[in-house]
Amino acid sequence: MGARAMSRKAVIESVGMAVAERVMPNSEFEAIVETSDEWIRTRTGISERRVSSDEETCSYLAAKAASQALERASCDPNDVQMVVVATVTGDYIFPSTASLVQDMIGATNAGAFDVGAACAGFIYSAQVAASMIESGTIDNALVIGVDVLTKFVDWSDRSTCILFGDGGGAVFMRAQENTNRGLIATVMNSDGSGAKHIKIDVGGSLHASGSESSKGKSCHIFMEGREVYRFAVKAMGESCCSVLEKAGVSADEVDLFVPHQANLRIIEAASQRIGLPPEKVFVNVQKYGNMSAGSIPVALYEAEQSGKLKKGGLVLTVGFGAGLVWGANLIRW
Ligand code: ACO
Repeated sequence: MGARAMSRKAVIESVGMAVAERVMPNSEFEAIVETSDEWIRTRTGISERRVSSDEETCSYLAAKAASQALERASCDPNDVQMVVVATVTGDYIFPSTASLVQDMIGATNAGAFDVGAACAGFIYSAQVAASMIESGTIDNALVIGVDVLTKFVDWSDRSTCILFGDGGGAVFMRAQENTNRGLIATVMNSDGSGAKHIKIDVGGSLHASGSESSKGKSCHIFMEGREVYRFAVKAMGESCCSVLEKAGVSADEVDLFVPHQANLRIIEAASQRIGLPPEKVFVNVQKYGNMSAGSIPVALYEAEQSGKLKKGGLVLTVGFGAGLVWGANLIRW
């Protein structure tokens, strides 16, 4: 690490969140597919999720979370230098959702781009923004993780439709000198040979929507749950251990573990592997289901609000998802 990177850190000054208004409890699925509240709760830990309306677009939720983060940091939108949106459910293929958000929040002097790393999107985008801050390229950034996966769900597929929810969160990062706060270490991994395990076939350039080659293919989420489950537990455990090792920190020193919220059983199995007791593990999957890139920043917001995440605390975040892709950030809050 260069001297500059040592002294200049990307510190999270504030966090905001926005989820879709409509609450959909498990019981509603009993009328749609062959399932039960009991099955969903015991297999996933989810009790309810948020389902977005037509007006609650990806950019709308992102802008709402971003504006709240700016307000809480007392930052004028004109002073924002970069808007980074992690999402796989952007409003359009192009333009980027980040550009829409930049305009919606009035960040007139900011650059903007999206990062696509599915449920690890917030991990990747936080590191990308932090690197730009540490190198001196920019002095601050809004990093937003947001997804509206219910818009891509096959409501007749009981193995996937129960899992997802819509929402996201935003952090405002700013350069600070001579501080121990900020992003400390990151690991990022990918195994594209597992691309087939979670995907949406139609809508990209391979099978463009309405094209000849898209015929007979689905525009909904396909997932091999068991494969992803096995991968998730292993990937979460490994990336957490390697980010701690990279930072020279032991699991005991972690104040709070904020994992991607996909399934309570995955979170519990991974926490055990890393050696983190339940009281250090933040869980809100029961309220929201899997919000993909939105899960970690929403959890950070709620952890801070509940007093579990305090300034100066050491927080370990980890995500995994379609790609396959995974990664972890260690942050001094
Ligand atoms: N209600 C009742 N029964 C169901 C339901 C349901 N909603 N869904 C599946 N089942 C049935 C299956 O059909 C199967 O029946 P069978 O044995 O007769 O074939 C049985 O339950 C067991 O199915 P499994 O898939 O083995 O169930 P499992 O315990 O693995 O739970 C789940 C399924 C919850 C999907 C789990 O595999 C999981 O969480 N996987 C990981 C998903 C994930 O984390 N994805 C994140 C990435 S997403 C992204 O990046 C966008």
